Amino acid sequence: MSVVPLNSVNHFTSNQARPRTAQLNLNVRGLHPSATLAINEHSSLLQQAGHDIIRLGLGQSPFPVPDNVVKALQANAYQKDYLPVKGLQPLRAAVAAYHARVNGIKRSAEDVLIGPGSKELMFILQLVFYGDLVIPAPSWVSYSPQASIIGRQIRRIETSLDNGWRLQADELETLCLEDPTRPRLMILNYPNNPVGISYSSEELEALASVARKYGVIVLSDEIYAELNYEGEHDSIARYYPEGTIISSGLSKWAGAGGWRLGTFLFPGELDWLLEGMAVVASETFTTTSAPIQYAAITAYEGGKEIDDYLQRSRKILKALGPALADALRKAGAKVPEPEGGFYLFPDFSTHGNKLKAKGIKTSQQLCEYLLKDAGVACLPGTDFGSQATQYTLRLAYVDFDGGAALEAAAESEVNEEFLAAYCPRVMLAGKRIQDWFSSL
Ligand SMILES: Cc1ncc(COP(=O)(O)O)c(C=O)c1O
Repeated sequence: MSVVPLNSVNHFTSNQARPRTAQLNLNVRGLHPSATLAINEHSSLLQQAGHDIIRLGLGQSPFPVPDNVVKALQANAYQKDYLPVKGLQPLRAAVAAYHARVNGIKRSAEDVLIGPGSKELMFILQLVFYGDLVIPAPSWVSYSPQASIIGRQIRRIETSLDNGWRLQADELETLCLEDPTRPRLMILNYPNNPVGISYSSEELEALASVARKYGVIVLSDEIYAELNYEGEHDSIARYYPEGTIISSGLSKWAGAGGWRLGTFLFPGELDWLLEGMAVVASETFTTTSAPIQYAAITAYEGGKEIDDYLQRSRKILKALGPALADALRKAGAKVPEPEGGFYLFPDFSTHGNKLKAKGIKTSQQLCEYLLKDAGVACLPGTDFGSQATQYTLRLAYVDFDGGAALEAAAESEVNEEFLAAYCPRVMLAGKRIQDWFSSL
């Protein structure tokens, strides 16, 4: 009997012959870095090469972190010790008190989990929960890649422009009826990225009742809650408390995306998920940065300074979002009326024939043309799960000096003149897009 040398059984006889990507985890192969970060880098390169690019790609708050929160961070720079995995106890208490104050949802410090950004917490939640991920299409870019990395099944529910791309209760029920007892985690985000809409209390109540009927766990992504234009955010947790986790953090309402602090608020019924997540957290990120956690207490305790800051932020966004939406409508787009946050999701399908005649067949190609010809950076609807042929785009109306605008908004009304003076580039983007479409 001849003996087969071991390495000849192997497909690859040496590490050199093996393509490096063959060693990538199968779930990561073929995925690309987050689309929003990629457009930001591309816009920077064009700017460095001397192009005048209006940057409506990356969804970063234009506003500075409130002064008193910055001071709290300075005062706590010396904090050097590891903190508890679930978070600093006074911060967990402040987050619970915050939700009681703003949403009327009464929970305790024990129900709060702190993490280095809500995105990381979402990933860990998807890891510890075993079931399908259900998301509306369109949805924020990272939910579905996270599920793919973990190896979960993703179910996208198509929504319609007529409903402002809002998920309807009957659409959720149709999906649940396919397999009524299947474990599912649904992520619902409002005010919404990418669309800018929110949900009415009635819509939340209807979705809550379907979720309860089929035992769907809801992750309510309320990271833009404080940026509801009217300051009147409602939470689905009020209608489905036992099955809803509220996700939030400092990134959007406190302008502190780079600080990396996210919060999850659990109902007692889901503490098994909180405990499971804490196990993974303890073996991965260990704890969120100590100085940031101490500073976040000031943000969550609120008070007059934070209230003023939020009122002025809302006042600016409430004028700017609808003004840009109008400009896009003048360019022929259908745009759901924004209600909060800093995004718009225009649909340019009415120009479909002209775009096709120019060889532009997808929203990705439309984006490339707008970047190249009009100097406006935005993201294609496909990055958010929309169909490639829909000609939808996501615009983040954040290319302005938020510090100067906030200061001026204390003294003045936010009207057309204000927008022209403090948000000129966002207004110019609307004009450039109009000009580009009218030249088709
Ligand atoms: C809808 C939505 N959810 C969650 C996040 C993640 O926020 P962070 O990880 O900074 O808390 C973002 C950030 O862009 C977002 O737009």
